[in-house]
Amino acid sequence: MCGIIGYIGNKEVVPILINGLKRLEYRGYDSAGICVLSQNKLETVKKKGQITELENELIGRGINGTMGIAHTRWATHGDSSVVNAHPHLDCKNKIAIIHNGIIENYGALKKILEAGGHKIISDTDSEIVAHLIEKFYNGNLEEAVIKAIKYIEGTFGLVVICESEECIIAARRGSPLIIGIGDDEMFVTSDASAILEYTRKVIYIKDDEIVTLTKNSYDVKNLNGNLVNSEIQEIKWNLKEIEKAGFKHFMLKEIYEQPHSIENTLRGRIRDNKIKLSFDIDPKLINKIIITACGTSWHSALIGKYLIEKISGIETVVDYASEFRYRNPIIKDNDLLIAISQSGETADTLAALRVAKNCKTLGIVNVVGSSIAREVDFGIYLHAGPEIGVASTKAFTCQVTALILFSLFLRQELGLELDSKLINELSLISEKINSILDKADKIQEISTNFKDAKNFLYLGRGINFPVALEGALKLKEISYIHAEGYPAAEMKHGPIALIDENMFIVFIINRGEIFEKVISNMQEVRARGGNIITITDCPEDEMIKKLSNFIISVPQTQEELSPLINVIPLQLMSYFVADAKGLNVDKPRNLAKSVTVE
Ligand code: AGP
Repeated sequence: MCGIIGYIGNKEVVPILINGLKRLEYRGYDSAGICVLSQNKLETVKKKGQITELENELIGRGINGTMGIAHTRWATHGDSSVVNAHPHLDCKNKIAIIHNGIIENYGALKKILEAGGHKIISDTDSEIVAHLIEKFYNGNLEEAVIKAIKYIEGTFGLVVICESEECIIAARRGSPLIIGIGDDEMFVTSDASAILEYTRKVIYIKDDEIVTLTKNSYDVKNLNGNLVNSEIQEIKWNLKEIEKAGFKHFMLKEIYEQPHSIENTLRGRIRDNKIKLSFDIDPKLINKIIITACGTSWHSALIGKYLIEKISGIETVVDYASEFRYRNPIIKDNDLLIAISQSGETADTLAALRVAKNCKTLGIVNVVGSSIAREVDFGIYLHAGPEIGVASTKAFTCQVTALILFSLFLRQELGLELDSKLINELSLISEKINSILDKADKIQEISTNFKDAKNFLYLGRGINFPVALEGALKLKEISYIHAEGYPAAEMKHGPIALIDENMFIVFIINRGEIFEKVISNMQEVRARGGNIITITDCPEDEMIKKLSNFIISVPQTQEELSPLINVIPLQLMSYFVADAKGLNVDKPRNLAKSVTVE
């Protein structure tokens, strides 16, 4: 989720680039950099931290010119550091690139380039693109870029300049790139917010298209070098709307990003039905797995227990980090501790990780280079992109996806056969989530019935009990309505005393061996006048229809993947209820995005 901006025209480029980077700050980043053609040389400055620090670094450097590129980095490969910041250069500092996306085969390409004498100084995947272009460059930058990107597997929004040509080359596959058309000036950016004050005339580059920009021309070609038609469009949005990509809140935007963010978590990690992670583990040596986390991440941890035990057979226990850290827990040398954290900075989770001094540790983290990511022995990054809404949505589904991958990886390393049906179903899950998002208006219609509700119960069984907990947390943290999650069978041990006509009860019920059990729980609730909202993959079932006040149908999937499906309507419901109440969905009262204090 990096930010990209390039400019070629008659104006001083540095202020335009810095201003553009500031417009991109909302996307989240850890470092930034700029490269300008100044007195016929490429001048590059990179900094960690705020854009203003980069701006200050440029004062007095005498860097001026009318062509340049700039980048805000959200690290995916390699920690946040100056050397890993973009732009990246070739060996001779004559070619500069900025990149957004994930290069899946960068390891193999790096080996080939280093064998060819290239010196690669960062530990990013992006840098190899500069060297690949250098390898093919012979005086025609566009040609060299076309040759280079034919070797790349993965995604890129790529912008390139070189010392000897007055042009900018841009190419895209899977990461957005937009051309801005001005008067005797051209822009390229990942996000229209960066150029909106200069022009509203844009061209959205399509996958496998390459564009050559000069200050008064743009050529859009396919990878065979043939010109393609491109439509100039007018941006109608204002700045705020653009930052949220037209969604009313970041939370809604992030709910809709989940099909794509799950694909990013999976990207490059399943090949020919084999799971590829960036570390080796011998599961035969593991005594038990301890998963520790907080909040939503603790819910994905509970799902992880079901997944790891069912798929790999390894005993797994789950603990709130805030409890684990003070309990003097029993940790065996051959245990494996997993810390799950979107931010990688949650104080309780970090403290819990530090308690586990005598065993190996694995982090499942979104923010690259965060404290937890740096302190674990090995990790699985989510690659979900920045999650800005305080209520965690895409991080949760990406954590569950990472836990599915890890469970399959353990099974594979035990020498057991993998369930190819499950792996195939995993490749379909984004489409299935999209089918739920496509009917969000129906979920919104149902949700407006609950905006004045005072109490909710969320009930699920098995792997969907933690989903019930997550649905309850979503509702309470953004709509301030009291909600509790319970295993459905727990009703008769107390909570059923709460049921009356003022109580709303969400049931999560999928076809399978416990279907009838949940139906009987629904009957108990219905008999006491409770209002039932049913999330189900069998909406046509007679009992479901008889017992439910509202039914939200979801597509069928395999049980292990059902949390990825069942949580979507719960996220949407909580969002629509809170929005109907006119509450601050992205920044709910009393809450912080990352709880870095005890
Ligand atoms: C989830 O919606 C909450 N914002 C909160 O529970 C969050 O999941 C928890 O604070 C853990 O954060 P982490 O994943 O960054 O460690």
